[in-house]
Amino acid sequence: MAVHSITDQEKQTLITAALSARDQAYMPYSHYAVGAALLTSDGNIIKGCNIENASYGVTNCAERTAFFKAVSEGERSFRAIAIAGGIAGEQPTDYAYPCGSCRQVMQEFGGSDFVIIAAKSPNDYKEFTLEELLPFGFGGESIR
Ligand code: THU
Repeated sequence: MAVHSITDQEKQTLITAALSARDQAYMPYSHYAVGAALLTSDGNIIKGCNIENASYGVTNCAERTAFFKAVSEGERSFRAIAIAGGIAGEQPTDYAYPCGSCRQVMQEFGGSDFVIIAAKSPNDYKEFTLEELLPFGFGGESIR
């Protein structure tokens, strides 16, 4: 499957940002560090990390951290997100796919051509459309 709406160079830059975002992850309970990097339509990159809580359900995923930072700063239009996750202090050994809640936030703010990149490294990644990861998603157009 090919997704062509961002260049290989942009993908590598975005993945590098997601990997560096992992350095800020606050994950004293799972020790699983996740970084995300969101590319806006204007070419800005907004990073996010997972932020855990002793009340586990309050934990915020890296992807939602990136979206909420971006939206709260006035960004509303996005082209892609890169996600990298794995055991803290180690390079990712598997692709980290976004959880259901994060996919729903992508449904809210990602456009129809929004690209989701699950990366182990800048040269080892998979990419998806939101339609592939969240088929028949529920969106605002359903609400009158
Ligand atoms: N996590 C993310 O940051 N993104 C996801 O899409 C899935 C899970 C985080 C939440 C928690 O801090 C850790 O990974 C283990 O679930």
